[in-house]
Formats: sequence, structure tokens, C-alpha cells
Amino acid sequence: MSSAAPSSRPSGARVRVHHLTQAKEHGERLVMLTAYDAFTARILDDAGTDMLLVGDSIGNVALGHDSTIPVTLEEMLVATRAVASATARAMVVADLPFGTYESGPQQALASAVRLVKAGAQAVKLEGGAAREDAVRTLTQAGIPVVGHLGFTPQSINALGGYRVQARGQQEEDRLVADAVALAKAGAVALVLEMVPTPAAARVTRSVAVPTIGIGAGPRTDGQVLVWTDMAGMSEWSPRFARQFGQVGQALHQAAQDYGQAVREGSFPGPEHGFES
Ligand code: KIV
Repeated sequence: MSSAAPSSRPSGARVRVHHLTQAKEHGERLVMLTAYDAFTARILDDAGTDMLLVGDSIGNVALGHDSTIPVTLEEMLVATRAVASATARAMVVADLPFGTYESGPQQALASAVRLVKAGAQAVKLEGGAAREDAVRTLTQAGIPVVGHLGFTPQSINALGGYRVQARGQQEEDRLVADAVALAKAGAVALVLEMVPTPAAARVTRSVAVPTIGIGAGPRTDGQVLVWTDMAGMSEWSPRFARQFGQVGQALHQAAQDYGQAVREGSFPGPEHGFES
């Protein structure tokens, strides 16, 4: 059940930071998905996903919150340990959750160190030029950083809801300036969320590190989706996502079939019993 990796990335060995820039240089698109637990991470890793993001979207997807804001560092540490334990090839990137890095580089470093000790090979943080110092400090400490620009879910209250960002020339110029600042500070990749295609394309041309889009159109160096959106775990998914399976429906059917078999007495069958 494994898949071949493009030429500049190792087929069996771990994807490392230098593979990210190589992929951009060779025009090979990077594939990223979120993961929050060991079982799912193993499947996504085995399928050839280049980067697994232990996203703070765990708040919406698995913890029952309606935003990423309540997610704690302790919750991210549990999920990061689980994903890292089940991943052989993908680079594991863990989100710094809201409230664990905004005070400054030292707070960011203390939080990031814990995620790296839990198994992350890189951390991701949200925000533009204001995070330059934090990115530089983490980079100097040997912790690769992925930036996150455009719609930044941890700022949903300030942004006034789920809205496309960087619309208009001034906002687009600021997005590009933020991207250049983060790349200069040492960011190894940049997630661009919910920005117009031309703005994402301009950022992609402006930095040497790969851009990874989500709701940012096709002209980025890679794509990321929340795995439950990608796999069709529920009927709803964001407008920018495509459901590549109907896993939610299959799970629903399996649970119904199991329930029926238990109720009618056809499970367990004779083959499932222990005689002595
Ligand atoms: O937490 C997350 O899932 C993310 C993606 C939306 C990129 O940050």
C-alpha cells in the first residue's frame, strides 16, 4: 500500500527541510494533509503524503470546538506524539496553538521546543512581519518554521469571520511583504490560506521557499487540506476543498451493518468464539 515519491524526495527516507526547496526548484508539488492521531497518520504517511500537519484544526475536527482558539499546547503535544509515532516518511509539522507564541521569541521558543521533543520536525505559526523575530529565534535554535499567512484562523475574531484575505492591491502588497519577511527570517515554507489566486502566485514567485495553498488556487508550490475534508468525512466541506472519497458514508454504513449483525445475532459467528 505505498506510493512512489517524486524524484527529488526520498521514497523511503524522511522528507527533510532541504527536500522542500529542492521540490520547488524542480517544480514538484508538495502534498500536505492534517493528521491528529496515529491510526490516520499511518495511512496518510503510507499513501505518500510529503508533510503531515498536526493542525490546531484538531479543535474543530476532533475536540468539538467551533474554532482553533481553545486548543492548548498540552492537546497539541498529545496529538503530535501520536502522529510522530506512526510516521516514517512524511515531515511532521506541528501548529503552535493560540496563546503560546505571541508574547515574543522566548515564549515561542519554549513552546516550540516542547513540540519538537514530542516528535515534530517543524512548527507552524500564524502571522506576518510581526512574527519575524520569533521565526529567526526558532530557526537559530535549530527548529524549522513554517509560516501561515492570509486567513489565519487564530485571528478569526479580529478578521471578522472566515473571509478571503489580501483582496486589493494594498493588502496584496502587504501579503507579499509579510512572506518575504518570514522567508528572510528563515521560514522553510509558507502556508497561504484563503487568498486570491493571483496574490498566491505573486507570493510564490517572490520567495525561494515553497508556498503551500489552502483556498489559494492552483499556482502555489503545494497544497494542504484538512484530512476529513479531503476524505469526505461529512457531507459539508469548504468551497475550496474536494472530497476524494466518501469515508464518512462508508463508516456510517459499517456501523449500521455492525449494529444490525449484533441485533440479529449473526455477529459474533462461530468462527469468532474461543472454545476453551
Ligand atoms: O490547523 C490547520 O489545519 C491548518 C491548515 C488550515 C493549514 O493550519
